[in-house]
Amino acid sequence: MVNEEAKAFRARLISINGNTVIMDVLNGELSNADQLVFCSSGETFRVIGLDTNAGSMSADLDSPVAVQVVAQVDAELGGSLSAKVAAKVGEIIARSDHRPEYVDQFEAEILWMSDQKMLPGRRYSLSCAGQTADASVTKLKYRVEQSNGKHIAATSISKDETFIGNLALSHSIAFDPMSSGLETSAFELKSSDSKTLARGQIRHGLRRASNVHWQAITVDKTARSRLKNQTPKIVWLTGLSASGKSTIANIIEKKLLEMGRHAYLLDGDNVRHGLNKDLGFTDADRVENIRRIAETSKLMLDAGLIVIASFISPFEAERRMARSLFEEGEFIEVHVDASLTVCEQRDPKGLYKKVRQGVIQNFTGFDSPYDKPENPEIKIESETVSAEEAATKIIDYLSAHE
Ligand code: ADX
Repeated sequence: MVNEEAKAFRARLISINGNTVIMDVLNGELSNADQLVFCSSGETFRVIGLDTNAGSMSADLDSPVAVQVVAQVDAELGGSLSAKVAAKVGEIIARSDHRPEYVDQFEAEILWMSDQKMLPGRRYSLSCAGQTADASVTKLKYRVEQSNGKHIAATSISKDETFIGNLALSHSIAFDPMSSGLETSAFELKSSDSKTLARGQIRHGLRRASNVHWQAITVDKTARSRLKNQTPKIVWLTGLSASGKSTIANIIEKKLLEMGRHAYLLDGDNVRHGLNKDLGFTDADRVENIRRIAETSKLMLDAGLIVIASFISPFEAERRMARSLFEEGEFIEVHVDASLTVCEQRDPKGLYKKVRQGVIQNFTGFDSPYDKPENPEIKIESETVSAEEAATKIIDYLSAHE
């Protein structure tokens, strides 16, 4: 009888050539006649020969070094395996009677290792046994006190703290719960510049979205925008408070209307009265503010509209996340640039005055940071260029990129 440990065979695909599959064994052993499965597609195949020259056939559970196995595959499938399956390098292969879970949300125990605070909603890069996906913490459940294991309510996580939370991924991956002790139960979170931020263990999968399917689309973005005779775009204005975003955004919307275009302006102050009225100005709330606005803009773009989004959007990470929701060329980042000194002199809403009086906290440019855009499509020097000129420049860009 096969023991449980040997049954839990896990490997990572390196290549398929004809009917030869090369894989890195992560856990367990492989024998002739075993039936294996590619976890993402569910395609199965049978092993009819093993090439031991590539290394030992079993992986030592304690060894971090994986070994290669070359499996000859049953040709009875009709056509070669490489022609039949669309397996991707790095995907997990298992024995078909003992598969890992395959979902895009799970609960995990995570040790945060970075000086940067953990922000729910921020997008991180996850890697688990060689599989990668974008991941964000959708729910911070509690922090675990290291000395006594107590559960402490928490809204943010700092360096060397362990917490339990839910993670949502950009796509499903194969994994096992931490109780299995398999390599497919551990993961790392990294920042966009590949710095390790955290290590985690998966507790169990969540099947929230698995029964929520996208509706079959019969009327699509192209059809809707053709009816409006325009190319949907998103003009994303970012800059300090009082840099001139709202004024420019209003002129753009007016000009587009005059040109017979269907546009919609989403503005920080207005959205914060409705959709986002539960959000303040902490880092975590700003991340969530931009996430909701980016998703709303995406729906509007899908409706065929030209969206003008005017938000401080101070963090590079969330602007990048917003951009990633759209197709190449759709997202036009506009940096409305003015120095803090000039913004403070303008102070149209009297907010800077209140900051100086100590009435407002977490104010951008003071005790809350602003990451200057590195490569915006358009930069407006609002200290020297009028709002009218700025709007014309943006409209010209839109016309040139229809
Ligand atoms: S963002 O940082 O999350 O993108 P958003 O653009 O929605 O901010 O909202 C900014 C507007 O809220 C500012 O124009 C200003 O009128 C107002 N506001 C109130 N408190 C603050 C604060 N602490 N920091 C920045 N803006 C604030």
